[in-house]
Amino acid sequence: MTELIWDGKYKDGKKQGPVRIALPFQTIETVNESAQDRRRNLELFASGRDTEWRNRLIWGDKKYILPSLLPEFASRVNLIYIDPPFGTGADFSFAASIPESDGFFEKEPSILEQKAYRDTWGGGITSYMRWFYETVVWLRELLAEDGSIYVHLDFNVGHYAKVILDEEFGGASFRNEVVWRRTSAHANVSQRYGNVHDVLLHYTNSDKFTWNQQYTSYDEEYIATFFDQVDERGRRYARRDLTAGMDRASKGQIYAWKGITPPPSRCWAMTKDKMDALEAAGKIHWPKKTGGMPRLKLYPEELPGVPLQDLWLDMPQLHNLAAERSGYPTQKPEALLERIIQTSSNEGDLLLDCFIGSGTTAAVGERLNRRWIACDLSRFAIHTTRKRLLGIPRVKPFVVQNLGKYERQAWQVAEFPSNGKDHLEEQRERETAYRRFILDLYRASPISGHSWLHGTKAGRMVHVAAVDAP
Ligand SMILES: C[S@@+](CC[C@H](N)C(=O)[O-])C[C@H]1O[C@@H](n2cnc3c(N)ncnc32)[C@H](O)[C@@H]1O
Repeated sequence: MTELIWDGKYKDGKKQGPVRIALPFQTIETVNESAQDRRRNLELFASGRDTEWRNRLIWGDKKYILPSLLPEFASRVNLIYIDPPFGTGADFSFAASIPESDGFFEKEPSILEQKAYRDTWGGGITSYMRWFYETVVWLRELLAEDGSIYVHLDFNVGHYAKVILDEEFGGASFRNEVVWRRTSAHANVSQRYGNVHDVLLHYTNSDKFTWNQQYTSYDEEYIATFFDQVDERGRRYARRDLTAGMDRASKGQIYAWKGITPPPSRCWAMTKDKMDALEAAGKIHWPKKTGGMPRLKLYPEELPGVPLQDLWLDMPQLHNLAAERSGYPTQKPEALLERIIQTSSNEGDLLLDCFIGSGTTAAVGERLNRRWIACDLSRFAIHTTRKRLLGIPRVKPFVVQNLGKYERQAWQVAEFPSNGKDHLEEQRERETAYRRFILDLYRASPISGHSWLHGTKAGRMVHVAAVDAP
């Protein structure tokens, strides 16, 4: 087997998996729930029956959220789309700007964001690979047997990520590398080609997966080549059996339209009634030569189009003035998510995006009647997504959750390992390391000899509260 190795991937010959920790979610708010909805859910709960599903917007680090989703959602997510950050501040909403009047959002990255940024990218590609691998391990466990995952990347890390995805999912589960043109040509490139595309790596958990074939319209060249006849009204049509070489779904649509079962390749094999009906509709091409075969006329506008290929050039760009623009720096267009969600899921299916950013996956999922779980580390992302969802007419109630103090406690344990002799000593060592980290972050100087005072800064005393303080 070929594999990618990074520092710390193996210890004593054993592959190091992510820390498995399931923390309880805390609901901060239920959004858009009517009093009637609430009463009905309470009654269901009181009678021991399943309560109604609520979509979930979760604020926190995927490192803790994904394993915490496992007890409820292992093998139950039908479609995962992720657009992970790859090392630029913008991917962590550092560069975000939002009107000052909006009291919720702070421009500075939070401590957790800064730490996550360092975890992810602090050690360059090595730390990123470890971080990405841990994400993939959890996502694979959450994905349903017939589910799909799309990983949105670019030239920075796409090729490394593909090797990790192949290793985790098995190379045979790889379906496509889609190239999406995200922007128009750059004029100011020097001694390199303009970089205008992202890639979407599509994997499935098995050979049996949801696939709703999508089509694009015929372009002029295709029409000129395949629809080579012109009728008496000047409309182009083809007179041959266009189904040759088409996939089953396209054929099915053509045959359904023809009203032919089972599909013959020649129209003379039809019943007389059907032939008469087609004749009356002007759909039969009669050969000039005697003895020639009558053929069915196929007009481009009556056919589904060209099955979608892996080069997506037709997606409208997200311009600064686009109505869907939320002000989030790395926002992706809704049309992109629409295509992915329509192809690889059905109504009622469960979607997951653990890097939700401006909320594109949740907003499109909501409109297309899918259930969704969306997470992000950034408070700005959660705020933007919440606001965007509330702009959707008749948005279904959803909950905003976090892992509260449990995430902070788990974070402290994971980030500040201790070799203490017993639990008490471990706890003390961790707290000391944590306080040092916070003082350092705020450029304060540590002091000792006090129980409640831990540092000084600009002539003032500093107290660092316990990690799980409210
Ligand atoms: C490229 S953006 C996603 C943009 C999104 N697809 C959209 O259309 O708006 C990446 C997101 O990942 C979030 N993020 C980074 N590290 C994270 C982590 N460890 N856990 C959860 N979210 C994280 C960032 O806050 C950012 O919002």
